[in-house]
Amino acid sequence: MKVAVVGTGYVGLATGISLAYLGHKVTCIDIAVDKIESLRQGKLPIFEPGLEELFLKAKQNLHFTTSFTQGLEQSNVIFLAVGTPANSDGSSNLTYLFSAVDETIAYLSYHKWPTVLVNKSTAPVGTSDLIVERVEAACIQHVVTVASNPEFLSQGKVVNDTLYPERIVIGGDDRAIRVLQELYSPIISQSFASPEQTPRPKHLKGVPIISVDTRSAELAKYAANAFLAMKISFINEIANLCDLVGADVTKVAAVIGKDSRIGSSFLQAGIGYGGSCFPKDTLALQFISNTIGYDFKLLSSVISVNNSQKFIIIEKLREELGPLYGKKIAVLGLTFKPGTDDIREAPSIPIIHSLLSGGAEVYVHDPVALDKARASLPSTVHFMNQLSDALIDADGALLITEWPEYLEIDAEYLSSVMRRPLFIDGRNAMDTSSWRGIIEYRGVGISNNENKRINSNVLQSK
Ligand code: UDX
Repeated sequence: MKVAVVGTGYVGLATGISLAYLGHKVTCIDIAVDKIESLRQGKLPIFEPGLEELFLKAKQNLHFTTSFTQGLEQSNVIFLAVGTPANSDGSSNLTYLFSAVDETIAYLSYHKWPTVLVNKSTAPVGTSDLIVERVEAACIQHVVTVASNPEFLSQGKVVNDTLYPERIVIGGDDRAIRVLQELYSPIISQSFASPEQTPRPKHLKGVPIISVDTRSAELAKYAANAFLAMKISFINEIANLCDLVGADVTKVAAVIGKDSRIGSSFLQAGIGYGGSCFPKDTLALQFISNTIGYDFKLLSSVISVNNSQKFIIIEKLREELGPLYGKKIAVLGLTFKPGTDDIREAPSIPIIHSLLSGGAEVYVHDPVALDKARASLPSTVHFMNQLSDALIDADGALLITEWPEYLEIDAEYLSSVMRRPLFIDGRNAMDTSSWRGIIEYRGVGISNNENKRINSNVLQSK
């Protein structure tokens, strides 16, 4: 089939490149001239495992352009995959989306080619209906069918999640469902040769299609992200309680996660969620609820727990070091999670600001995001290319992102280079079985014996 994808971010590129790999003829459109130029030269603007392999293999089926007229020509399916960033009140900024819609409709009004206009951008419930209104106003509803097809891609795993999704959600009428089923048929039946770097999961024989109305599809995307965010905030509250009652959240999570009704994923306690999706989408869902007059109390708590959770490790640092003025603090990791160079809504940013406002000397390291971070952080931050330079003479180290290279750090090494070997693990990621007695270690919800002794009296007396 002939496919156009508007927007070359994570979602647009993963969709476009994967569909080209499956044999469709794909044109990716973006208004950013430099992005399109670098894609034409074979350079990907994002860091994503396995995407380059697919890109190279799919090259003959891929085109890149800044022109809607060239890109949309005779497309059977047009995907909208542009950013829908948050406004300051939490609502979604739909400027880019509707500008892409208007350009597309202007083209289709003239050429009247039958096509399915599919929104993949995460957008408020009712957005597809607004697109339908514009299609009807242009009198092209007999050729243009509007659909919502949300994606559930996780950064660092976008190739896996695109080729081997757990479900494909299509919101739209029978025609939209028929056309998208045909487009996705190699994925639905898993009848393609899987790329070397992203092999097919062994159990996967096929992928279910869930066809629904557009509003349910739109809400499902928010509900999925809000539910996962809720699991994280829930386990973080349990972790905070563990610190007070002398329990270990990793053990509590292991126990509850074995219950298949709960599930073990997204129960990793720490400094909370970041990234371009959970913070934005939870706020957008809260805004949608408020607008309609519904007080979504649980969601508000999820957001507020996450807002405060990142500062827990600064409290721990203060408990150990006292005032932070003049202390050298090593910050390990800047990205919102490992496997990506994305620092959007990363907990590292407010944590660093808080350290600086307390007068600390902040030395940061990250294996991939130092250059990006320079633009978002004050010039008083020290950016270290070598991990050892961040750690030397430090009064404390904070683990913010669980990059594999940090998990290898040796306690003897920390103890030899740091002024005070205090390691605060914001992700409960370190294997500390051999660390005892060598350095001071604190995780989130992994209580130390001191707390157990103090609080057992309180618990007994009640
Ligand atoms: C998420 C959803 O997983 C994906 O389905 C959706 O399409 C987009 O949003 P992503 O933002 O790439 O994907 O990251 P994810 O792996 O879900 O992690 C989000 C954040 O939650 C990270 O900051 C991560 O560190 C944090 N997290 C995750 C936890 O703190 N604990 C956990 O148990 C899991």
